[in-house]
Amino acid sequence: MAQVATHDVIILGTGLAGLRAAVEIARQSGDKINMALVSKVQLMRAHSVCAEGGTAAVLREGEGDSFDLHAWDSLKGSDFLADQDVIDVFVHKCPEEIHLLDSWGLPWSRRDDGRILQRPFGGHSYPRATMAADKTGFFEMQTLYDELMRYTNFTRYEEVFATSIIAEDGTFRGLTIIDMASGELITLRARAMLISSGGLGTLYGFTTYSQTVSGDGQAMAYRAGMALEDPEFVQFHPTGLVPSGILMTEGCRGEGGYLRNKDGDRFMSKYAPSKMELGPRDIISRSEITEILEGRGFKGPKGLDYIHLDMTHLGADRINHALPLIREVCMKFNGLDPITTPIPVRAVAHYSMGGVECDITGACKVKGIWAAGEVACVSLHGANRLGTNSTAECLVWGGISGAEIVKFIDKNPPLLDLPKGRVEAEEKRIFGVLLNKNGEQNPYQIRRELREAVDEHLGVFRTGDEMKAGWEKVKKLSARFEKIKVTDKGRVYNSNLINVLEIQNLLDQAHAFMAAAIAREESRGAHARRDFPTRDDEKWLKHTLVYYTPDGPKLDYKPVTMTKWKPVERKY
Ligand code: FUM
Repeated sequence: MAQVATHDVIILGTGLAGLRAAVEIARQSGDKINMALVSKVQLMRAHSVCAEGGTAAVLREGEGDSFDLHAWDSLKGSDFLADQDVIDVFVHKCPEEIHLLDSWGLPWSRRDDGRILQRPFGGHSYPRATMAADKTGFFEMQTLYDELMRYTNFTRYEEVFATSIIAEDGTFRGLTIIDMASGELITLRARAMLISSGGLGTLYGFTTYSQTVSGDGQAMAYRAGMALEDPEFVQFHPTGLVPSGILMTEGCRGEGGYLRNKDGDRFMSKYAPSKMELGPRDIISRSEITEILEGRGFKGPKGLDYIHLDMTHLGADRINHALPLIREVCMKFNGLDPITTPIPVRAVAHYSMGGVECDITGACKVKGIWAAGEVACVSLHGANRLGTNSTAECLVWGGISGAEIVKFIDKNPPLLDLPKGRVEAEEKRIFGVLLNKNGEQNPYQIRRELREAVDEHLGVFRTGDEMKAGWEKVKKLSARFEKIKVTDKGRVYNSNLINVLEIQNLLDQAHAFMAAAIAREESRGAHARRDFPTRDDEKWLKHTLVYYTPDGPKLDYKPVTMTKWKPVERKY
């Protein structure tokens, strides 16, 4: 019989959004609310530590920046799909988060006069990327972790793998997790849960994400009946290091780095003349791929042709001071020093604009569940996110959802029963069925082919026919998944079984993503279709909702919230 543990609140995922929410719950409740902090890795190894370039905030209002300007930049960047009420809350709350973290000891990079330094970033009309050199995520995580350590009313569930969200009658009941060390299934019961488990970027082969990021939260929410909103919008970051895919922060261009083709031309002058290398990511990624397809790229390994990120004119001092991690990574992974040598880069899968549907407070359609950070779609980024708006979103909605959860728990909601037989069924699904799979299919081969299919068919440019071909491949991979072999039959640290559960999550995500992408017959933000090359506001200014059914994804749509601005043509 599975072990059961009871808490007030579960925080599923301890990256920036999860830790920020945990701190908010602890401080607002005076350490009275009992939390379960659930992480598939050690608490401080969440992928958020890899965030590099910065966190957006208006810190110079009246000195050239304004809330309206940040809002407009984000909306225009989103290709007008973002909800304007959400953007309004966001821009006003970002500076509060910067100052809060400052008061908790975050070593923000500073100007000579002591004020917090901000640098330019793509699509922003004012330098508002607030950073700690090029290790911003690491320092934000460390600061939040240190702050959390002032409180005691939480249990750490580290190196555990969440398998299912249990909900019934539209209300949250619990979460099942596998404790990797013992291989036991544990059921966590709670009154509320925050899903803050991050992105799904390892759906792609060429990606900036850590291998741990497999969309587990999205997949569980989807299977539990919640909608995935706008999953067709996946962002390509213009500068992934070739061939590893490691992020070369946009801060490189914020500090003055150039993008050059093989003829040495700064090709962005053709595509975004007023912004050049600091255009929004969707436009720069398309420009790079166009240069490569038209023969002006460099030949790279495994089909990863590339262009150059050139910082050789910046000088050693600037690179050592502002981009120390970038230099270290280039030297260790590619044996090149960016002070003297251009960096080989190309567009790389980096971020999901879509996620679990939630309202402006982070509340999901299942009562008692909130979502925050990349796993959520509060509808801040629309069809294309601006750099630095993601760490900011994690902090803002970590704080907002944490505060909402405190209000909810203050009303003393009952701890609801688990549906009869549900945990036993989960135990059987995992240890009775999956663990005992002895078919002829290698799950790792399926994962490899899945990533190749997504790389090939849902890249920077798409067409209906290509995506449908990808869909057929994924359907066949799902059928083959039924016949896998799990080689390790043990319980203790069975990473083979955990990988199989992740692959199942990736397959479910791929179906939802592709169904939404095939259906959206227009080009908007990161969804660039060669067969429908223009934006079609009349038909498609709406959010996609994808629901799980046993027969495949079911699509629905809902309106975009517009309060202040009408969509216009997007030019840079
Ligand atoms: O380029 C970067 O440092 C990434 C930032 C972001 O995705 O917000």
